[in-house]
Amino acid sequence: MDDLRNKYLMAIAAAADEAALEALRLQAIGKKGEVALMMRGLGKMDPEQRLVEGPKLNALKDEITSALAARKAALADAALEERLASEWLDVTLPGRSAVRAPGTIHLVSQVTEEVTAIFADMGFVVAEGPQIETDFYNFDALNIPGHHPARQEMDTFYLQRAEGDERPPHVLRTHTSPVQIRSMQANGAPIRVIAPGRVYRADYDQTHTPMFHQIEGLAIGKDVSMANLKWVLEQFFAAFFEVDGIKTRFRASHFPFTEPSAEVDIQCSWVDGQLRIGEGDGWLEVLGSGMVHPHVLRSAGVDPEEWQGFAFGIGIDRLAMLKYGAPDLRAFFDSDLRWLRHFGFSALDVPTLHRGLSR
Ligand code: DAH
Repeated sequence: MDDLRNKYLMAIAAAADEAALEALRLQAIGKKGEVALMMRGLGKMDPEQRLVEGPKLNALKDEITSALAARKAALADAALEERLASEWLDVTLPGRSAVRAPGTIHLVSQVTEEVTAIFADMGFVVAEGPQIETDFYNFDALNIPGHHPARQEMDTFYLQRAEGDERPPHVLRTHTSPVQIRSMQANGAPIRVIAPGRVYRADYDQTHTPMFHQIEGLAIGKDVSMANLKWVLEQFFAAFFEVDGIKTRFRASHFPFTEPSAEVDIQCSWVDGQLRIGEGDGWLEVLGSGMVHPHVLRSAGVDPEEWQGFAFGIGIDRLAMLKYGAPDLRAFFDSDLRWLRHFGFSALDVPTLHRGLSR
């Protein structure tokens, strides 16, 4: 029995894998194994001998069983150790560079956010209107009657109407000014809104595309004045171009929807063919503005005897070209990945301003 024990305990300790262990188990304590055979031999013994040998055999069987289990556990541990040693991962290594670069925020989106944030800081609320407008909102309500030359000058896209269509004529809005009317109709006065969005005109060259972007401003109150307009725009330019005390110039102009009207220029200079904003004694036109015409207030349901205020309209794309040095507007909308990556902004950059507003 001792020989048997030694033989099996040594073989088990040396077993290389689970298959070998299983073979040993069958050979030793399986139904036809060596220990089972010896147990069968108990029947031929006399009772006293059996009383001595029986427990010994049982003990041997138990010993082999637990040796098998111990070896099995040891083999599993060793296998795990080996995997841990060979399959380790250094989580401190830099990641593999992404096969696809992440997308970027478009220059127009970025600038729209910047402009909106600055005006929001001054209490302007964002408003929106449809891009397909009736000619009432795009023209008539803005004091541009049917015969007015501004209708032609705006290179308007008209929507075709089926014969017998009784609906009013529709256009692709040529400016964001109709949002002035819609906002006043919806909310009355007083009101302070900023309305960014797409506008359309049949025009195409280095600084014009058939679709482009404007941002409209409107502030109506009891005594909102041209002086308030000037302050608000100066705050805006200083924050947007990040130049404190940037000079502005208001030039008398004409728009049907404002009286008086002013075109606003900002200070700039050209050094070696490079545009510098906020310095020098050159001027760059950036927006149209004025005091909202009484006709416009009236057509939006606001009493001009009681209310007054200013409005302005800025080209977002033009602002983007000036601030970020993008020379050709057409490239804005070509979806060329090289342009998008060059002029795009990281989605992780929150569009806040470096300087904010100086109050
Ligand atoms: N709507 C004008 C345009 O598209 C811009 C404009 C000028 C808007 C004067 C205004 C304004 O609100 O007061 O050219």
